[in-house]
Amino acid sequence: MICDNLSINQAGHLCFGGRDVTELAQKYGTPLYLLDENKIREHCRTYMSAMKQAFGSDALPLYAGKALCIKDIYRIMREEGMGIDVVSSGEIYTADAGGFPMERAYFHGNNKTDADISYAMERGVGYFVCDNEEELLSIECEAEARGIIQKILIRVTPGIDPHTHKAISTGNVDSKFGVAIETGQAETLIALALKQPHVSLEGYHCHIGSQIFETTPFTDAAEIMMSFIASMRDRLGYTAKELNLGGGMGVRYLEEHPNVDYAKNIAQIAAVIKDLAREKQLDLPRMRMEPGRSIVADAGMTLYTVGALKTIPGFRTYVSVDGGMPDNPRYALYQSPYTVLLANRPQQTADTVCTIAGRCCESGDLIQEGVLLPEPKRGDVLAVLTTGAYNYAMASNYNRIPRPAMVRLCDGQDTLILRRETFEDLIRNEL
Ligand code: LLP
Repeated sequence: MICDNLSINQAGHLCFGGRDVTELAQKYGTPLYLLDENKIREHCRTYMSAMKQAFGSDALPLYAGKALCIKDIYRIMREEGMGIDVVSSGEIYTADAGGFPMERAYFHGNNKTDADISYAMERGVGYFVCDNEEELLSIECEAEARGIIQKILIRVTPGIDPHTHKAISTGNVDSKFGVAIETGQAETLIALALKQPHVSLEGYHCHIGSQIFETTPFTDAAEIMMSFIASMRDRLGYTAKELNLGGGMGVRYLEEHPNVDYAKNIAQIAAVIKDLAREKQLDLPRMRMEPGRSIVADAGMTLYTVGALKTIPGFRTYVSVDGGMPDNPRYALYQSPYTVLLANRPQQTADTVCTIAGRCCESGDLIQEGVLLPEPKRGDVLAVLTTGAYNYAMASNYNRIPRPAMVRLCDGQDTLILRRETFEDLIRNEL
């Protein structure tokens, strides 16, 4: 099994978070999202203890809510003492409604509107991760009007291509996010920020990508950012107090994927940062990281019921399920791999190569191709594993399909935390 929250019980059924998922499919209907709270807490604790051990007690992991943004997750984040990354007024609203202390929130985005900036300050968001000059001036203006000093970080593009294993000089310079070190635009924005009376520049942020298995891109980024801190100290007389290295650590979707050791990665990144701090005579900055996927992905599972079966001789077998791209668009968008099992008989010989299709009127509406399963039958419960990140968060009502319900599993208990959308929900905003 790809994760230790999966098992098989005496009935030969798949269990998740200690619960028989075939029973949960019967109780709540399908499609259904499951969320294992204990797994989320375990990941939070791994990041929290590894970061504090590696960087000191003022280090803090921030959960990137774009991976899964619902009120209940912010209760867990508050209880675990995490910070959060928010990317829109809608995420701020959700975190606030979930009772999260907003001084531990970092507001991201390449195009925060004046209304977003005003709303975020009204809600008391602790930090703005400032992306560009227009935004900086709008933050200054709003902070002045409110008579406050707003803490910010500046989002810097370090020029790393995470999928090449090494820093390449132009890799990420062409990005809609942040300001590049290489073009000098990062320095210009920092100099401008230092002149703003209602803005307190706390340091820098970078984010190099997502679903990264190797450590080298992160240690490369750490090295570039520490050198940049030293260079800005020498050129502008300003030393950053905080460094945020973003998110991006990979998760295991398939058996052949590595199991990333987050604590070990963090220790390796810390070693690079400490070496550079010594070499450049810098104090260790307050460290932040922003994991999203690696906090919630393997805490999630989606259950479907198998419907139509279609074998086209010489081509393939389509296994259609009662969900699809509206609840999980990631295969259609990125050809993302997933492990798929028949939850009611996961141990039977998997001898049929299947294409798992959704129910939308669109040929590209597939959940996965080339999956080996025991010959599926109408009524089987199909489980797609590791769907906690960027599934519900990216769900739509395409083809007027209501979004599924979500059930939280915790210490053997199941609780409905998101009701299944109704047809009335589909027309609610229509006048
Ligand atoms: N911080 C920033 C500034 C980010 O842009 C992201 C992700 C994260 C943190 C969290 O990264 P993570 O730890 O989750 O890799 N929809 C895509 C993923 C987009 C990620 C965008 N930014 C997917 O489904 O794979």
